[in-house]
Amino acid sequence: MASLDSVLAKIDQNLDAAVARLFEFIKIPSVSTDPAFNNDCHRAAAWAAAELTSLGFEASVRETEGLPMVVGHAKAARPDVPHVLFYGHYDVQPADPLELWTTPPFEPRIVETLAGRQLVGRGTADDKGQLMTFVEACRAFRETGELPCHITILLEGEEETGSPSLPAFLAANKTELRADMALVCDTLMWDKSTPAITTMLRGMVLEEVVIHGPNRDLHSGMFGGPAINPIRVLAKIIAELHDDTGRITIPEFYDDVIELPNEIADQWHELRFDGAKFLGDVGLSVPAGEHGRSVLEMLWSRPTCEINGIVGGYTAKGSKTVLPAQASAKFSFRLVANQKPDEVAKNFRAFVIERLPADCHAEFISHGASGAIALPFTSEALNRTRRALQVEWGKEPVLAGCGGSIPIVGSFKKDLKMDTLMVGFSLEDDRIHSPNEKYEMSSFHKGARSWARILTALSQ
Ligand code: BES
Ligand code: MN
Ligand code: MN
Repeated sequence: MASLDSVLAKIDQNLDAAVARLFEFIKIPSVSTDPAFNNDCHRAAAWAAAELTSLGFEASVRETEGLPMVVGHAKAARPDVPHVLFYGHYDVQPADPLELWTTPPFEPRIVETLAGRQLVGRGTADDKGQLMTFVEACRAFRETGELPCHITILLEGEEETGSPSLPAFLAANKTELRADMALVCDTLMWDKSTPAITTMLRGMVLEEVVIHGPNRDLHSGMFGGPAINPIRVLAKIIAELHDDTGRITIPEFYDDVIELPNEIADQWHELRFDGAKFLGDVGLSVPAGEHGRSVLEMLWSRPTCEINGIVGGYTAKGSKTVLPAQASAKFSFRLVANQKPDEVAKNFRAFVIERLPADCHAEFISHGASGAIALPFTSEALNRTRRALQVEWGKEPVLAGCGGSIPIVGSFKKDLKMDTLMVGFSLEDDRIHSPNEKYEMSSFHKGARSWARILTALSQ
C-alpha cells in the first residue's frame, strides 16, 4: 500500500482540481425543500454517482418514495480491515433571500480574505464541500494505491427536509449498508485552527398549529368585539410557552432532561467559550435561554422551543380591517438526550388545546421528529481519530456537542446498530442556511488530509 505521505502529497497536488469538481457540484441547485428543484436534485445525485464510479466505486442512484439516495461500495486491498459507512447529503437549503447574496448562490467562487481563501456558494459548507473532503481523500488513496478500509458511501437528498425516506431505505438495505461504523462529515470545528469530534447532537420535533375561529374572514368593525380573533388566541399561547426565566412551561417538558455529568461540564468550562462574542457576532448581547445556564449549555445540552414562523390575517401593503378566520404558526423543539420526541409533541398539543377558548379549535400538522444523540466519550475508533486529527492540525481536538440535528445518526444506531463518528470542518461563521454561505479553503484542504489520516488510523 502507498504511504500516507504520498496520499497527503496527492491531496495537496489535487487541490485546484478538487475545487473545480466541488464547483461543478455546487452549480447544481439541489434544493430539497422546494419541489421546483426536484429535477436538479436528481441531477446532483447522478453527478455524485458518476463521481464515485470514476473513483472505482460500484455506485448507483437509488430511487426512493422521495428524492434518490446515492450508494457506492469499494473494497480495500487487504480483506482484514474495517468497513466504514460514510454519510453525507447532496441536498441544500433554499438560497433566499437572494438579494442578500453578493454573488449568485449557485455560481460558486473563491474569495481572498486577509484570513485566507474562502469558497462561497450555497452548499459549500452544508454539505457538499464537507462530503467532498471525504471523496477527495478516497481519490488520493486510489491515485496512489488502494483504499485503507472497505468503504461504503451513502449520500442522501432529503437531509434538509428531515430525511423522510431514510428509515425505510435503511430497513430495506440493512445487509448492504451495515458496516463496522458510520462516519459523518456535517458538523463544525471548534474554531478555525482547532478540530472537533462531535459526540452529542440535539434532536428535534417540528410542529405546525392552525387555530380556527369564525367560519370566514370578518369585518373587524362589524364583528370586532364579540367575535374571537384566532391571532389573539395564538399570540397568547405562544407568549405562554416560556416563563420570565427562559424556561419552557409545557408540563413534563423537562422530566427526562438529565443534568450534564460534572466531568463533561468541567471539560466544557475548560473550553473558555466566549458567549459574548458568539452573540455579538449576530448583533445580540444578552443570552435569551434559561437563566443560570452558560451559552454553551444552552446550545449543547438544554432543550429549546422556537417559533419559526407565524401567519394570519392581512399582511400585504396598506391596511385592511379584517378579523381573520384562522392563524397559524410553526414550531421547532430541540431535544436533548433522553427526551422522547413523541411525548414532547403530545404534551405540546395538550398545552395548546388546554388554552383554546370557546369556538376555537386547533389543527396540528407534524413535520417530523428525531431524538437527540449522545455517543460514548471513549472508544478505540474515537481515540484513533483524536490522534489522527491531532497530527494534522497540531492541536488536540475538542469533544464537542452540537446545537443542530442530523436525523440519520439516530437511525444508524437504532436500525443498523452502528455508532457514528462525527468529524466536520465547518466553522460557526460559515453562514450555513444563510446568504453568502462559505467554506474555508483550509477546511476543504485539511479536511481531506484529515480523512486520509483517520482512514489510515482506523485500518491499522
Ligand atoms: N449540517 C446541519 C446540522 C448542523 C447544524 C451541524 C449546525 C452543525 C451545526 C444539517 O444539515 C441541518 O441543517 N440539519 C437540520 C435538520 C432538519 C432540517 C431536520 C437542522 O439542524 O435544523
Ligand atoms: Mn448538513
Ligand atoms: Mn443543513
